[in-house]
Amino acid sequence: MASILTNWCDGNTYNVVVQSTGGSCNTTAEVMTAFAAEAWGGQSCWGPTGDQFWCKAGDGCPTTAGIQAFNICGIPYTSATLTVSTTGGNASSPLLYGLMFEDINNSGDGGIHGQLLRNNGFQGSSQSLLAYAAVGSGASISIDTSTALSSAIKSTLKVSVVAGTTGYVGFSNEGYLGVPVNADTYSNYFWMKGAYSGTIILELVGNYSGTVYASKNISVTTSADEFSYFNTSYASTQSPDGSNVWRLRFDASKVSGSAIWFSLPQLFPSTYHGRSNGLRQDVGNFLEAMNPTFLRFPGGNNLEGQTTDTRWKWNETIGPLEDRPGRQGDWGYGNTDALGLMEYLQWCEDMNLAPVLAIWAGYSLGGTSVIGSALTPFVQDALEELEFLFGPTTTALGALRASYGHPEPYDITMVEIGNEDFIPCATYAQRFTPFYNAISAAYPNLTIIASTANSNCLPSPLPAGVWMDIHHYLTPSGFVGSFNEFDNQPRNGHAIFVGEYANTNFDSGAQIYWSNLQGATSEAVYMIGLERNSDIVKMACYAPMFEHFNMAEWSPDLIGLDSRPNSLTGSASYYVQKMFANSKGDTILPVSSSVGFGPLYWVASSTVFGKYYVKLANYGTTAVNVTVNIPTASNVQDAANLESFTGAADAINQPLDVIISPVSTTVIGSAAGGWSFLLPGYGVGVLTVNPA
Ligand code: AHR
Repeated sequence: MASILTNWCDGNTYNVVVQSTGGSCNTTAEVMTAFAAEAWGGQSCWGPTGDQFWCKAGDGCPTTAGIQAFNICGIPYTSATLTVSTTGGNASSPLLYGLMFEDINNSGDGGIHGQLLRNNGFQGSSQSLLAYAAVGSGASISIDTSTALSSAIKSTLKVSVVAGTTGYVGFSNEGYLGVPVNADTYSNYFWMKGAYSGTIILELVGNYSGTVYASKNISVTTSADEFSYFNTSYASTQSPDGSNVWRLRFDASKVSGSAIWFSLPQLFPSTYHGRSNGLRQDVGNFLEAMNPTFLRFPGGNNLEGQTTDTRWKWNETIGPLEDRPGRQGDWGYGNTDALGLMEYLQWCEDMNLAPVLAIWAGYSLGGTSVIGSALTPFVQDALEELEFLFGPTTTALGALRASYGHPEPYDITMVEIGNEDFIPCATYAQRFTPFYNAISAAYPNLTIIASTANSNCLPSPLPAGVWMDIHHYLTPSGFVGSFNEFDNQPRNGHAIFVGEYANTNFDSGAQIYWSNLQGATSEAVYMIGLERNSDIVKMACYAPMFEHFNMAEWSPDLIGLDSRPNSLTGSASYYVQKMFANSKGDTILPVSSSVGFGPLYWVASSTVFGKYYVKLANYGTTAVNVTVNIPTASNVQDAANLESFTGAADAINQPLDVIISPVSTTVIGSAAGGWSFLLPGYGVGVLTVNPA
C-alpha cells in the first residue's frame, strides 16, 4: 500500500516514488517544478532518477514543512521483474575496473612491496634509528653520515663494539611494526664495510619469545675500504604472531674496540611472479583475484611533493637501489622508492594491467604552481621519462632502460597530466597545455588524461580526445544520489575516468573507519551507474587501495594488512570490486523493469561468448524478490549462478575477522521463465547465466 511520507528529510534516506498519475499523489512534473522553485541546495540535496526522488540527509535539505506541500507516495517494493533484451545497448569499456596505487598508509614500503625491513636506507627528511636496535652487550648503533654507501645512500648504520667484547653481537630491525614471519623462503641482502673475516648470523626471531624461526650463517670477508654486497636466502618456520625481528650478528671479538658499517639490508618473502625487488606474493595474488584491468600510479598526492623539489622524480626511482635516494613522501614518511617506475611497470606486466602513468604537472602541495617558461624543464623531464619508457635502444635513455633489463619499449597507452588539478584550478590550463602539446606531438597515439573534469580549470576548448579524471569521496547517500551522474554526459569524445572514489563518511558526516556494508552497497549502486554508462566511462578505481593497519594516514582503504599471519584483509568494498570486475560484459544490454531504480539498482550485460551478467544492489533495508528474464536468449543453461553478500548495514571486515564476503548459490530457471531469487536489504549480487 502506498503511504504518504510527510517527513522524508528527517536525516534518514528514503527512496520514494512519485506517482505519475491518479490518486492524490503529485505528478513528477509537478514535484520537479516545485523543487526547482525552491532554494534547497539543488543537487546536493536531492536527485531525480526517472520517477524517483531521494533526499540526502545533511545540508540544504527541505524542511518537513516544505515537503508537506506535496503528496509524495513512498511505495516500498518487495519484488521486481527485470527483462533483459539481447539486442541493442552499448559497448562497454574493456578497462572499466582497475586499480589506483600510491604510497600512502605505508602501502608501498611496508605494504605491497616485498621488502620487509624498515628505514633500511635512512631515507626521507628526518633520519633516526627507527626500527633498529643493538643486539648483544658491548654493541651500540648509530647513524653515520660520513660513511656513505653511494651518492644516493648517504647515511649508513655504524655498529660499534666495546673493546674486550666477545660472543655474537649486532643489530636488529623490527620491520614495519613487526616482521611477518611465515613458513616461506626469505631472500636477504645487505651491504657491509669494515675489516672483518668470519661468520655473519642472519636470523628471524620472535621479539618477546626469543624463538628463532630462521637462521643462516654465512662466511664473509670485508674490508675497511669499501662496502661489499651479500646475497643469501633461507627457509623459515611459521611464527604464530607478528612480533618478530630480523637480526644480524657477527663475532664481536673480531671487531673489538672498533666498528663495522651496514647499509640497505633487505629481506623479502616469496614475491609475486618470483621477481627480485618484487611485490609480496600474497598481496599480488589478492589483487590479481580482483581481475583488475589497469593501474593508475604513482599518485595521488604522492606524485606531487610538498615542494617542486620533493616531487616524485621518475629518474630517481630506477636502476640499482643504492642509486635511489628516496624522498620524503607526501603522507608523512620517507619513501625508499624501491617500488619505482620499472617495478610499477613490472607489476602491470605480471598482472596484465594497462598502465595509467601520472606525470608531474607543475603543482606541488605546498601551493606552488610552476608556469610559463619556468615549466619548460619539467615538460622536458616528462619527455625524457617517456623516451626512457618508449625510446629505441639506440637512444641513450632507451639504452639505459635496456641496461636495467627491459630492452622492449613499455606498452603504455595512457598518461595523466597531474593529480586533482582542480586545486589550484586557476593555473591548470596553463600547466596542462605545454605538457599536452609536447607529449601529444611526440606520441600522438597516447591517450592523455586531464586530472579534473572541471571546465573552469581546463583549457577551452579541451583538445579532442582528452579524457577527464573525476574523484569522489562521498557518503552512502552521496553515491546513491550520483547513480545517474553520467546518464547525460555528452558523448563528445572526452571520456571519463573515475580515478578515485570511496565511501568515506556516514550520512551524518562522521568519518568511517573501514568500509561497511551500507557504504559498499552504495558504491555498488554508483558502479552500476558507471557500468550503465561504460561507453563513456572508460575506467574507474577505488582509492586508496591499501593500508598497513597500524600505519594508516587515511582510512577506509580497499585492503590492508599488518605483520600477523593471514592479516591480509579485503574490505566490503574489495568484494564489491572483485565481484563486479569478474563479471564484466562486453555489451551493456537494455532492461525493462516492473519498478523504478531505488532501492534496487541493476545493470545487465553480455559477453561475446554468450554469457549474461546482471549486477544488482539493494540499497533498501528489506529484501526484494528479483526475477530476471532474458526471453530471447538462446542456448543458455537453466542453472544460473548467483554470487551475493549481505549483512548488517554497519558490518565491517577486520583483520582475522572477515564477515562480509560473497557466497555462490545456484538458481534454477530458464530464459523464458526467468530466474528468481531474493536479494536482501543492503545486498549486492551478480547473476551469471552461462551459455549451454
Ligand atoms: O586517495 C587519497 C588522496 O585523495 C589522493 O592522494 C588524492 O589524489 C586525493 O585527494
